[in-house]
Amino acid sequence: PTEKRVEDLLLRMTMEEKVLQLSQYVAGRNTNANNIGEEVKNIPAEIGALLYYSTSPRLRNDIQKKAMEESRLGIPVLFGHDVIHGFRTVYPISIAQACSWNPALVEKACAMAAKEARLAGLDWTFSPMIDVARDPRWGRVSEGYGEDPYTNGVFAVASVKGYQGDDLADGEHIAACLKHYIGYGASEAGRDYVYTEISSQTLWDTYMLPYEMGVKAGAATLMSGFHDISGVPASANHYTMREVLKGRWNYDGFVVSDWGSVVQLISQGAAANLKEASEKAIMAGVDMDMMSRGYDKYLIELVKEGKVPVEVVNDAVRRILRLKFRLGLFENPYIRETTEKERFLQPEDIRLAEKLAEESFVLLKNRENRLPLPVDTRVAVIGPLGKNRWNLLGSWTAHGKDGDVIGIYDGLELELKDKSQLLYAKGCEFEGNDESGFAEAVATAKEADVILLCLGEKRNWSGENASRASIALPKIQEKLAMELKKTGKPIVLLLSSGRPLELCRLDPVCDAIIEIWQPGIAGGRPLAGILMGRINPSGKLPITFPYTAGQIPIYYNRRQSARPHQGKYQDVTIEPLYEFGHGLSYTTFEYGDLKASATQLCPGDKLTVEVLVTNTGDRDGMETVHWFITDPYSTITRPVKELKYFEKRMLKAGETGIFKFEVDLLHDLGFVDGDGRRFFESGTYYIQVKDKKVKVEVATES
Ligand code: IFM
Repeated sequence: PTEKRVEDLLLRMTMEEKVLQLSQYVAGRNTNANNIGEEVKNIPAEIGALLYYSTSPRLRNDIQKKAMEESRLGIPVLFGHDVIHGFRTVYPISIAQACSWNPALVEKACAMAAKEARLAGLDWTFSPMIDVARDPRWGRVSEGYGEDPYTNGVFAVASVKGYQGDDLADGEHIAACLKHYIGYGASEAGRDYVYTEISSQTLWDTYMLPYEMGVKAGAATLMSGFHDISGVPASANHYTMREVLKGRWNYDGFVVSDWGSVVQLISQGAAANLKEASEKAIMAGVDMDMMSRGYDKYLIELVKEGKVPVEVVNDAVRRILRLKFRLGLFENPYIRETTEKERFLQPEDIRLAEKLAEESFVLLKNRENRLPLPVDTRVAVIGPLGKNRWNLLGSWTAHGKDGDVIGIYDGLELELKDKSQLLYAKGCEFEGNDESGFAEAVATAKEADVILLCLGEKRNWSGENASRASIALPKIQEKLAMELKKTGKPIVLLLSSGRPLELCRLDPVCDAIIEIWQPGIAGGRPLAGILMGRINPSGKLPITFPYTAGQIPIYYNRRQSARPHQGKYQDVTIEPLYEFGHGLSYTTFEYGDLKASATQLCPGDKLTVEVLVTNTGDRDGMETVHWFITDPYSTITRPVKELKYFEKRMLKAGETGIFKFEVDLLHDLGFVDGDGRRFFESGTYYIQVKDKKVKVEVATES
């Protein structure tokens, strides 16, 4: 019935109405109770979608009323916005969420965010960002799920399921958008908007998988990127959008451009003017133009001139109408006008935010089991982040407010029974040269048993167009650490950042380090719980921490080298400081040998590999088992190892759990070529968990 309704409506639409459906404008940027009328007046009743900045249900309803009642066909508007890691209840940034290795939890968080967003007037989020990112200088590393294709794919699926639920029309869910199709994370030198050099093999090996998984999970939309992919910009890329996405994958959702990425085809040298840019974008498969104002201006002319077939326009309109029907917008165009209290920050949302923050914290280092701290420890919270709430929210917080945040100091205040145990000094600002706070910081440290050093990045140091050439902390922060070290007191570094940082100078000074990323509104309590031992940390890294920025790009699934033990730097190690998958617990886990159900296989055979993991410590703890495969010899060379599956489970103290990996021979041991064709070859493969390996032989011919 949806398709019938789409066709019926399409048949009745004029070309003018169609091109407006393909256009997205903005609304609600500076709206208040007094100028709602003015805002509504400026928006065409036939507009397809709005980038909606307000949280006012009334503005949405007024705009929608205009569309429903003043446009000839009464087609509702689609309201979209960036709901990246929560809406008003702000969760940890996406890179932190990936550290949880808990897709079920991420799915729940996305569902909660969808519910808040929907109540505030949104139908559509520009999330998840699933750009594999291997350059921590890039500001948008914070918005994705790290360096690994499969990990990004798993969290893409979890987010899509969470945002969209089983029924987009149930009034609680919103449409997802996989972005930025495709390869945006490869931006040269970690800068935004620039060129990416991606060979066709790398496109398929590294970047396609998360999109393929997200599309299969039913993502309603995709966003094309700002970048140029080896000479063909992402927003004019016929191969990636028309051929692969809409052709081979049979995708029936729509592609929206990034903000202005159609008009920017001119600056990229791919179009002479906006008219040509619009022609190239729509022909390549961009269905909706976000803010370039090219489709509504030029598409009619382009159709008349025969440069854009009317069927291309119809196909794009169809896709947009289809989503509007699926969202139930024709039946329920308006939303209930609730109060802020009803809409946001419900107790269950906050509990979920705490849980996700807890599982996203990564204990990077714990020399001599310095953590957890004994109950009666006197702690000195020192550093620019100690009492700062704003920066814990992270980049792209749709409507997050620092007043909602429980920060580091707040969390400890709630956790510690005896408040006299808690001391504080700021020490320094995030950047600059002012050392005047050092003396107070040192004096405070001397009063305490342990220093909780709260250092890190400001939230606007990551996100769009927020790249950094240096990924070290500013010198003033490192200097504060060195001064504090002289007191001889143990230092626990609580590090907040939107990217992996260069820690080669700080690391040796610290007894323990917890990477807390940007945890959103509810990091304080779980962090205090971890410090004081109420909670056992379980996060693990989805991205490599280099020893120094000069090693970038550095990631675990690099291709094999001609001389595996050479190719060294003369001045620093080639090893990362903290590798992909690293993360400590307060308990210890012992891994048994891997057991394969068979070691001689033919295609079609079943293969299960098991490992026994024992919690050998005296506290319960969660462990994530990462399953890698290695294909040492193949027609197209393969990475040293590739993650194919992971599982996280709670193991009680002394408990042994069996972790299993059901290997799909074709998919997990096979590979794709530079045009996405899948191959599977006979030979030797290794399945690996930590340093344990099992060898299997596969014969494709008898
Ligand atoms: O969704 C974003 C995108 O990620 C970057 N440019 C702006 C878009 C809309 O806000």
